[in-house]
Amino acid sequence: MKFFVDTADIDEIRDLAATGMLDGVTTNPSLIAKSGRNMLDVIAEICDAVPGPVSAEVTATDVETMLAEANVLSAVAKNVAVKVPLTPDGLKTCRAMRDRDIMVNVTLCFSASQAILAAKAGATFVSPFVGRLDDMGLRGLDLIEDIVDIYDQYPDFETEVLVASIRGPAHVVEAARTGAHVATLPPNVIRQLYKHPLTDSGLAAFLKDWEATGQSILEQAGQRKDAAA
Ligand code: G3P
Repeated sequence: MKFFVDTADIDEIRDLAATGMLDGVTTNPSLIAKSGRNMLDVIAEICDAVPGPVSAEVTATDVETMLAEANVLSAVAKNVAVKVPLTPDGLKTCRAMRDRDIMVNVTLCFSASQAILAAKAGATFVSPFVGRLDDMGLRGLDLIEDIVDIYDQYPDFETEVLVASIRGPAHVVEAARTGAHVATLPPNVIRQLYKHPLTDSGLAAFLKDWEATGQSILEQAGQRKDAAA
């Protein structure tokens, strides 16, 4: 499963990229607004920091302006995935960009029927939002299961399921169970994935016992090197 980070905060992105776990980045207009920065500058910096796909979303709603914005965004870097909403004009934009081999992430997907349309439009990624469905009292992960099952029936569908609106580690684990290709995670959720209280207490016990020995691996290595010289 690929991990993308869902943020436009370049410091967070650089920090997480250093873990070697990051396969890409997703942004949206709300995340760009939160960064307080010029969109094209931020996208250029992110594309430089992470070689994988970086989603940059159009903000127009008509196909002509969406295409104009998509051209600008895709010209920023080779690894830009133009993000379009799941609307008729968004899918027309998707088709046009895919015909030019530009990556497209179709976002704001809330139903299996919408996901079928995204695949037929040739989307590189479709982004179903699990957390926002959960917020409505539905089970967002049911939608992921449906989309993965449907896409599996059609080997000519090349669209990857990118699970979005993830709120915690349980969403990530459940999404992985479905076989979804990608999960985009807020930075705090990526950090939560590492955590387990038994890891912390186990490590503390190992280190306490080790300290009592008075030993040092590096000192011993130095002593062995000296003895061999
Ligand atoms: O980037 C799209 C998506 O991940 C947004 O998540 O938490 O605003 O529902 P959220």
